[in-house]
Amino acid sequence: MADQKVAVVTGSSSGMGYETALALARNGFRTYATMRNIEKAKTITDVAKKENLSLHTVKLDVTDERSVDDAIKIIKSEAGRIDVLVNNAGYGLMGALEDLSMSEIKAQYETNVFGLIRVTQAVLPTMREQKSGIIVNISSIGGKMAIPLQSPYHGTKFAVEGLSESIAYDLEPFGIKVVIIEPGAIKTNFDTGMLVAKKNQNPSSPYYNSMRKLQSSINSHFKNAIPPSKVAEVILNAITTPNPSLRYTVGEDAALLAQKRKELSDSEFQKLVLDFFK
Ligand SMILES: NC(=O)c1ccc[n+]([C@@H]2O[C@H](COP(=O)([O-])OP(=O)(O)OC[C@H]3O[C@@H](n4cnc5c(N)ncnc54)[C@H](OP(=O)(O)O)[C@@H]3O)[C@@H](O)[C@H]2O)c1
Repeated sequence: MADQKVAVVTGSSSGMGYETALALARNGFRTYATMRNIEKAKTITDVAKKENLSLHTVKLDVTDERSVDDAIKIIKSEAGRIDVLVNNAGYGLMGALEDLSMSEIKAQYETNVFGLIRVTQAVLPTMREQKSGIIVNISSIGGKMAIPLQSPYHGTKFAVEGLSESIAYDLEPFGIKVVIIEPGAIKTNFDTGMLVAKKNQNPSSPYYNSMRKLQSSINSHFKNAIPPSKVAEVILNAITTPNPSLRYTVGEDAALLAQKRKELSDSEFQKLVLDFFK
């Protein structure tokens, strides 16, 4: 279909990326479900085949410039245009700053921030020439507030917030919109896949006990996590509405935290966080 809108989603092998790619394909988008490990494509491909969806899988590792350029070239040559980019690929890194190695921290920024920038830069010329497009950046409620022992993760998500808000101004004259998604706890591979600084895992670390306590609080918080299809719904809504908001929280926990962050002073909010993790 010549007028079919084209969507690109990063990190589509699981979780929010997987659900978002399917939701977009089910709602008429020619969807490119990209993933760094194409061997994980079977599940989404099987669903797409069964439902006769316009969903295509392409290898894309956001940390690899060549991989990003190749993937976007393939998509551009096959589909001729790109209307939606969902920058979703990411992971969490926990650890006391003192215990984190620079390589652990750099890897976190390489995926969550530089990866997002890399893919956005590869897609922008196409959207700018079209004079239309929408970029959806998956931040987190952790892009608006911080909890203990997650400084690199929060650093990346605060960066995504600032970067997204700024480029929204740059891109508006070219008809390109920017949307930031701020989920709370979502049931995906995210929490089980969170990396912990190597040094922090050693019982001799001065932060070892605090980390154990934090991990158990996070585990119990994630028992109430909501399914990733809820995030996909919000994204679909944002990209199909004529005037999307700049930010969308997803989940009651995220909405409550965003509200408290607005209402409370820094010290009141810090007390709330400390009480929660006691
Ligand atoms: N789940 C939550 O509670 C939550 C809350 C707020 C924000 N988020 C954010 O939501 C986004 C999606 O995470 P999720 O919850 O859906 O977790 P997930 O199930 O672990 O999915 C993460 C996806 O990112 C991919 N990825 C990681 N590094 C990549 C790279 N270098 N290149 C391409 N893809 C890469 C993973 O691929 P592999 O399968 O190859 O590892 C996977 O497809 C992340 O940005 C995360 O920070 C999550």
